[in-house]
Amino acid sequence: MEKIDYSKRSFAYYPTQAIVTAKYEGGAWGKPEISADFNLNIHSFAGVLHYAPACFEGLKAFRGVDGTVRMFRPDENAKRLMNSAEYLDMAYPSEEMFIEMCAMCVRANWDCIPPYESGASLYLRPVLFGINPQLGIRNSDDVAFVVMSSPVGTYSGAQALKPGTAVLSRNYDRAATYGSGRFKLGANYAQSLHAYNLAHKMGYRELLFLDTATHSQIEEFGSSNFFAIKGGTYVTPDSCSILPSITNKSLRTIAADMGLKVETRRIPVEELAEMDEANSCGTAVVITPLCSIDDKPALESSEITRTYRFGDPNECGPVSRKLYNTMIGIQKGLLPDRYGWCMVVDKK
Ligand code: PLP
Ligand code: COI
Repeated sequence: MEKIDYSKRSFAYYPTQAIVTAKYEGGAWGKPEISADFNLNIHSFAGVLHYAPACFEGLKAFRGVDGTVRMFRPDENAKRLMNSAEYLDMAYPSEEMFIEMCAMCVRANWDCIPPYESGASLYLRPVLFGINPQLGIRNSDDVAFVVMSSPVGTYSGAQALKPGTAVLSRNYDRAATYGSGRFKLGANYAQSLHAYNLAHKMGYRELLFLDTATHSQIEEFGSSNFFAIKGGTYVTPDSCSILPSITNKSLRTIAADMGLKVETRRIPVEELAEMDEANSCGTAVVITPLCSIDDKPALESSEITRTYRFGDPNECGPVSRKLYNTMIGIQKGLLPDRYGWCMVVDKK
């Protein structure tokens, strides 16, 4: 087998060995099956192809310093998938079935789990979607649940903790105030694709969405939450239209244990001027520091009304770095799993 340099990987699809699939048809779940065929055979009238009854999750399995493979908080992903599926009025796997299928996927792709030294991990992507043929707009009765995986490095492909730039999105919204933003639906990502492309074309790494009602409060990025360090406080937005990030939840616990004050509250845009460190956080991005955030009248505009800057443009802030090291340390077995967040998967 060709030797792979996992340390050069970004967050992208790389072929693996197998996927795990289960179907809910006629009111009952079938047995999960492992398959080396990555193509899914679905009806052309399947709801997912027309009205997007689809939700997904993202979690990682890490090969630890001790060789042990650990999944990070899969129970939290299982619960979030249930919430998303309930919003779509779709059947969903139990927490036990979700975790077991993730573990099956890890085992079936054992040789694709990057070595500890590479800094990379095996990203698991569980997806749940409506498959019965339908034309009228209604929820799907039959669903497929598929767990796939890809070995991934940092989200941007840049070195971990390398600061990047972001821009505020004033003329494109991600999720309406009482819409689906707090659920992990594929449709939310479709909504942000065009704006993301524009931001990337303008040279920004990240796009920070604002609340849709007033465009005055910080919400989140298209693929991650926002958090900042302001003096001795960890601050992150409170909103009913952002995704409850498992990474952010974990970081809040670690921050509190580090002696930081933790605030989950509305964050007006102008408060960025008072932040010492600003970051995106999530499973894929882990913690990605920002050196600056531009405010522009429109994404397409070359005019910049204000630039907020955070610390040294080449270095992650010290508090964010400490949070990162603690979380990665737990995930990779360098630090004791004091909160019971890791689930060990044996090769079998
Ligand atoms: N917000 C959005 C829109 C996301 O896509 C993600 C990624 O899952 C997150 C936040 C971070 O969530 P988590 O930390 O659970 O991966
Ligand atoms: C994750 O961090 O797991 C995500 O799902 C973000 C992704 C859309 C890139």
